[in-house]
Amino acid sequence: MGKDVIVACDFASAEQTTAFLDRFTGRKPFVKIGMELYYAEGPAIVRELRRRGHRIFLDLKLHDIPNTVKKTMAVLSALDVELVNLHAAGTMAMMTAALEGLTRPDGTRPKLIAVTQLTSTDQESMERDLWIREPIEQVVLHYALTARNAGLDGVVCSPLEAGKVHEVCGTDFLTVTPGVRFADGAAGDQKRVTTPAGAAALGSDYIVVGRPITAAEDPVAAYERCLREFVG
Ligand code: C5P
Repeated sequence: MGKDVIVACDFASAEQTTAFLDRFTGRKPFVKIGMELYYAEGPAIVRELRRRGHRIFLDLKLHDIPNTVKKTMAVLSALDVELVNLHAAGTMAMMTAALEGLTRPDGTRPKLIAVTQLTSTDQESMERDLWIREPIEQVVLHYALTARNAGLDGVVCSPLEAGKVHEVCGTDFLTVTPGVRFADGAAGDQKRVTTPAGAAALGSDYIVVGRPITAAEDPVAAYERCLREFVG
């Protein structure tokens, strides 16, 4: 898997999603289906976008007891997606079980990546609500290393953390990074942002881009600009 731009399809219905994707008559973007769209439309939306030829990152962030996660991952694996994820906070046992569930009878499986600490969590809320007292950068790296030791393929993280994650977990451990904005665009609610070219320089393997593409006047042009700046 080389560097690529993943378009976050944060829409509330299949109708809106397919209307948006219909604009892409050339290259079919790698897309992210998150909780909103998946809970609204179920596995049918995944099958439809696969049928249309899109590669899919199914961003459902599983976190439950190992047996439940294992059985759920087996269901998701049958949907023929390329990337799925879970919360590293579910522990090593949960991550190992997830990998078992994902692995198909022929030995193939989607790639599995972990959320370390959500970028909406800061040092203060982590200490106050989660009772985790170490510096958040250390926590992120520890969770990433635990994910790697469990056999996972990478993490979701900020582009600003991608270099450190590669240093600690190896260059082939994937960093999938949201928080990307054009130099001349609005940041919205994202706080620590970087440009597509900046993310490439920092070592991101995949950037996840939502509103800079979905809310653009010309989404196809915005997508192509992202590709040019990130992949070259
Ligand atoms: O619209 P925007 O480019 O901010 O979308 C980024 C996408 O990445 C959204 O789907 C958001 O939920 C997701 N995401 C994020 N930060 C994380 C994890 C996921 O922005 N830490």
